[in-house]
Amino acid sequence: METIAFFNLKGGVGKTTSAVNIAWHAANDGIPTLLWDLDPQGAASWLLNKKAKNKTAPKKLLKGKTPIGDLVRETDYDNLDIIPSDFSLRHLDRQLALESEKDKQNLINKLVEPFGERYALVVLDCPPSFSVLTEQIFETADSLYIPIIPTHLSLRTFEQTREFFKQNKLKPKRLHAFFTMVDRRRSLHRVMLSHPPKMLKNGLTTPIPYAAVVEKMGDHQSPLPAFDQRSPVSRAYADLWAEIKQTLSEF
Ligand SMILES: Nc1ncnc2c1ncn2[C@@H]1O[C@H](COP(=O)(O)OP(=O)(O)O)[C@@H](O)[C@H]1O
Ligand SMILES: [Mg+2]
Repeated sequence: METIAFFNLKGGVGKTTSAVNIAWHAANDGIPTLLWDLDPQGAASWLLNKKAKNKTAPKKLLKGKTPIGDLVRETDYDNLDIIPSDFSLRHLDRQLALESEKDKQNLINKLVEPFGERYALVVLDCPPSFSVLTEQIFETADSLYIPIIPTHLSLRTFEQTREFFKQNKLKPKRLHAFFTMVDRRRSLHRVMLSHPPKMLKNGLTTPIPYAAVVEKMGDHQSPLPAFDQRSPVSRAYADLWAEIKQTLSEF
């Protein structure tokens, strides 16, 4: 099993959109895939039209009293299951800090590991923050994909993440940035795409264009390629998946 995460310190940059579309592509490729929605806002769950069955007490989850397998729901798509988020999980972070202090182990990793029996790929959709939760995700994920809108500020937050990796002896090579919401009418976007900054040398090369059809995922409550495979942005996500697949060792 391989675990990947979509992460960025910033919100609204396309983490969830990408996590949902890439998970769909992986599943469509025949890979048994589990998407874990770790953002209490539950956008990925909403886009796949799946709600948590019950409220989850983070403490019970972390102590194993609520088996995480009980939270898994099938989606409408073959090979694709989800652990939906619910608002009660907004305390997961605080609880994780407490329990990890006691246990001295990475509890997110401990929760993910047993899924190796059922899934070949776990996709984590991360909340936009730096916290104990994200630190544990950094250790758990084999690779992390960082959507970046081509602006200086976005690059700066990426640099902060890279610095964090270096300082904490995590391998920055596991970080793969890619451009999202690219608008070629904007000169800064064009410049950044034609001359990508050095820090992106380990990045993916498929840019995801800005396109109104992406918002339709909300109308349909479904992944983009499930209702549109022709638009340039949908094709870009197919290419992005092909690129991501190459970065994974198991496929
Ligand atoms: N390529 C795109 N083109 C246009 N809108 C997009 C694109 N990617 C994402 N969006 C929209 O931007 C908003 C934020 O995207 P989302 O994936 O939820 O970001 P995050 O998870 O990083 O907060 C959503 O309304 C989404 O529909
Ligand atoms: Mg999100």
